[in-house]
This record gives sequence, structure tokens and C-alpha cells, in this order.
Amino acid sequence: MAILNIVTSEDEVLRKKCRPVDKITPRTLTLLDDMLDTMRAANGVGLAAPQVGILRRIVIVDIGEGLIEMINPEIIATEGEQEGEEGCLSVPDEVGIVKRPNIVTVQATDRNGEPFTIRGEGLLARAFCHEIDHLDGILYIDKASRMLTPEEMEDEE
Ligand code: NI
Repeated sequence: MAILNIVTSEDEVLRKKCRPVDKITPRTLTLLDDMLDTMRAANGVGLAAPQVGILRRIVIVDIGEGLIEMINPEIIATEGEQEGEEGCLSVPDEVGIVKRPNIVTVQATDRNGEPFTIRGEGLLARAFCHEIDHLDGILYIDKASRMLTPEEMEDEE
């Protein structure tokens, strides 16, 4: 396992649309493992493959309730609305206010090639939306109603 370099928002790779994973190979599994190491090292709650320069539809999420690995994830249903703070490992030292659905149902494939459906509420729903947006070249700063000021950021620390 290895800690990969996380690209930041100036990098064009974050603006590209990722291709689906057609076949899960040993490389896919290594990438998943390396993404986990990378996310943990950066204290993140989610990471998408393009953030480590790989244009494939792979994301991982762990908001503290266990790791969720998603290959070719798709949001199949949403409910309600929430507005709250969001950050991104590719946009260091920034926090924005973003509106998201409150409940999100995602269909994806796991590392064994098995399809599964998962429902997330609150922070988990937010993380799913944020990470899946990355796969289409969308960053939360595109959707933020506003960014926190440096003063507000200080209050958070
Ligand atoms: Ni992000």
C-alpha cells in the first residue's frame, strides 16, 4: 500500500469526466488500497480516483462509520435537502456552504464485482454526492453558495 499524491484544484485532471471500470483487476484493488492509505493520511472522509490522478469511476468514503468502496457508483434516488459545510482534500484550507439532498441512494459495485445499493443520510449523503461529483469533474466550490471567510475558518479551529 502507498500514499499517493493528492492533486489540487488547479490541476486539469479534476475537471475531466472519469471512465467506468469495465473489469476489476489487481491494479483496481491496489488503487483502492492506496486510496484508503491516502485518505487516512490526509484525515479525509472521502476520496475519488481523479484526486490521485486516475480518471476512473472509483470513490471511497468513510465518515467514521466504516469504509465504503464504490466502483462505478450512480445516484439512483435522492430525498430532501440539507445545507452545510463542505471541504475537499483537493481544495486545501477552504470550507464552503453547499446544498445537497438529505438522503441519497447509490448503486455501485464492490471490489469483488458484486453490485450493491447503499442509502446515506446527512453527512454520508453529502459525502456520496461530493465524491461522485468528482467523477464528472465537478468540485464542491462550483456548487457552494458561499465560502467561509478566514475569520469564520479561525472560529472553527
Ligand atoms: Ni473532494
